Amino acid sequence: MNWRRSATVALVAGLASFFVMPGSAQAIVGGNPTSTAKYPWMLSYEQIRLRDGDTVPSLRHSCGAALVGPNKALTAAHCVFGQKPEQGRIVQGRDRTGSAGGKKVKIDSIWSHPDFAPAVHGHDVAVLTLRESLPGPYAVIAGTADTDLYTEGESARILGWGAVAPEMQKSDELRTALISVYSDRKCTDSYPEEFPTDEIKKEGMKGQFCAGFPEGGVDSCQGDSGGPVIIDGRVAGVVSWAASCADGKKPGFYSRVTAYSAMLQHQIGEVNAALANHR
Ligand code: ARG
Repeated sequence: MNWRRSATVALVAGLASFFVMPGSAQAIVGGNPTSTAKYPWMLSYEQIRLRDGDTVPSLRHSCGAALVGPNKALTAAHCVFGQKPEQGRIVQGRDRTGSAGGKKVKIDSIWSHPDFAPAVHGHDVAVLTLRESLPGPYAVIAGTADTDLYTEGESARILGWGAVAPEMQKSDELRTALISVYSDRKCTDSYPEEFPTDEIKKEGMKGQFCAGFPEGGVDSCQGDSGGPVIIDGRVAGVVSWAASCADGKKPGFYSRVTAYSAMLQHQIGEVNAALANHR
């Protein structure tokens, strides 16, 4: 299974339960509850959707995101695929998705990596420009030269409000865990159906990395997508896809931020310059 499915999940709420196999455990599995006070740049991206049992569509948590500038949020391209800015919003400083708390900000525009497509791996990054500026601190994205962040065994922090149970319930509270970066080889070997040839293995890992534990039990899960992966204090990844959750044989895949830093920095910087011009 690949992120095409994940994107479908993000778009079609009702199909979500199909994703997590029975027996796969909670989201940010093996992690602990945390707070947006501790991670102030951690954002919830809400999307207008019609949920089970609802008669009218409502804005609910859909993906994670990171505040990377006063009016800039980094998330996954599959989280906003096919969406218009008015179909989503960002919430800052709300620990519990069920609560009314936090600052809600509308989205002005959505930039997705131009090569992102639901049928291709990688390029799963998007930058949202917000209508209003939010207070920092801002998360710092890894630079082009920070490639050593993906050394096998590096400790990576994942955060999110993703699914907490096999039946696909999202966590009400923000959770976090540490996972371990895998070698590209281990990543592609775990998904022979996704990376059938040496060429695809090499190309496929250019824009992604994977992480987890061979014994499973700690992972991101549905609803954590778009959220940042922090290695050595920098945003080194964005939650992207996996076959299930916390299955040791199927590690989670994350966008390799260093492959896109120049592009992302351009997107993030541009708006700040535009803002400065307005003043
Ligand atoms: N695609 C999922 C989402 O939209 C995230 C999948 C990550 N899964 C994992 N087992 N690491 O929320």
